[in-house]
Amino acid sequence: MFRVLQMLTLCFAITVLGCSKNQLEQCNDNTPLYTLADFPIGVAISPTQLEYNSDYRRIAFAQFNRFTPENALKPEALHPEQNAYSFFVADSLVALALQHEKTIHGHTLVWHNQLPSWMQNFKGNKQEWIDMMKVHIQTIVSHFADKVPSWDVVNEAFEDNGEFRENIWVENIGKDYIKLAFEFAREANPDALLFYNDFNVAEKSKKCKAIVEHLSQLKEDGVPIHGMGMQLHIFNSSPSENAIKTAVDAFVEKGFLMHFSEIDISMNANGDMKLTDGKLQKQGRRMKALVHIFQQIPTDQQFGITVWGISDIDSWIPSFFGREDYPLMYNENYEPKPMYCGFREGLVN
Ligand code: G3I
Repeated sequence: MFRVLQMLTLCFAITVLGCSKNQLEQCNDNTPLYTLADFPIGVAISPTQLEYNSDYRRIAFAQFNRFTPENALKPEALHPEQNAYSFFVADSLVALALQHEKTIHGHTLVWHNQLPSWMQNFKGNKQEWIDMMKVHIQTIVSHFADKVPSWDVVNEAFEDNGEFRENIWVENIGKDYIKLAFEFAREANPDALLFYNDFNVAEKSKKCKAIVEHLSQLKEDGVPIHGMGMQLHIFNSSPSENAIKTAVDAFVEKGFLMHFSEIDISMNANGDMKLTDGKLQKQGRRMKALVHIFQQIPTDQQFGITVWGISDIDSWIPSFFGREDYPLMYNENYEPKPMYCGFREGLVN
């Protein structure tokens, strides 16, 4: 009896939480995901998982050719004291990635979150704040100058209503902090591709409009902003694919490189879901649609597609929102889900 129950559980796990065997055989001929695309296929990476979790490591190296360190290049990780930087973990991750011929996308230099406490509590006049931000940006960008060719320079500077987000930078420097941050990054590495990165851009038109207007104005003024990172932390049910496409087009028309920079597709916004095969299939279709939207971007503006983690248990969503969720391409056993098949199908069909 126990054996029968075990078998039933296994069948459920394979057919509902992962791809069914048939479905996987149909969508997967074992070629790595990144070899199917003409643009980089990225993933958010945790150095700890990469070191200690063999399933995670196998998939990270096999399927992707760009790594975005999920937390390891953020201010609190790299710049713990005003006069002390902590590069050891990041350097090791970058070296390992380069050994495996992955490119690195740097995330993120200026943000309101994950700041070291000295930075949050910094006291100074406007010029001292500018100088502090400049040293922060330039020390980090210079340190990685020959290894990290692209950066999210400013992250999440706008609110959903289109206003500037209140943060230490706007309070102490003023709205010009965005322009200055990009200029400082360029001085430190004139070859780097520099991005603005944000969420809810497809969903909230006021936010999208404000960002398009602000970035375009800066670009016209000669500020070195090359690209837009649309994070795409989306849901199975929203925003609509039309809304996403409309938002993408608004940036494309202004000539920005496009990065779908942090994809995950949450299935349980209300916290009351039952996981069903239908929902997993829908998630797969959403992923395929995202790839198709990306492919409609002119090729010289396609920076790449990045998913925000490997398996559902690596995702930030369950712990952040305190709910069960299944937002990524692999299940908790590191088996591919229909979302993985959707990504592949999007690339080949
Ligand atoms: O480093 C500490 C560790 O010392 C401590 O033991 C542990 C206990 O909880 O916490 C660790 O810090 C965690 C950190 O990730 C590093 O693992 C924080 O609690 C946790 O809140 C933090 O979450 C990250 C989150 O950004 C913070 O805002 C997520 O992993 C990361 O996926 C998420 O990523 C952001 C992007 O950078 C920007 N866009 C939104 C996206 C999702 O929130």
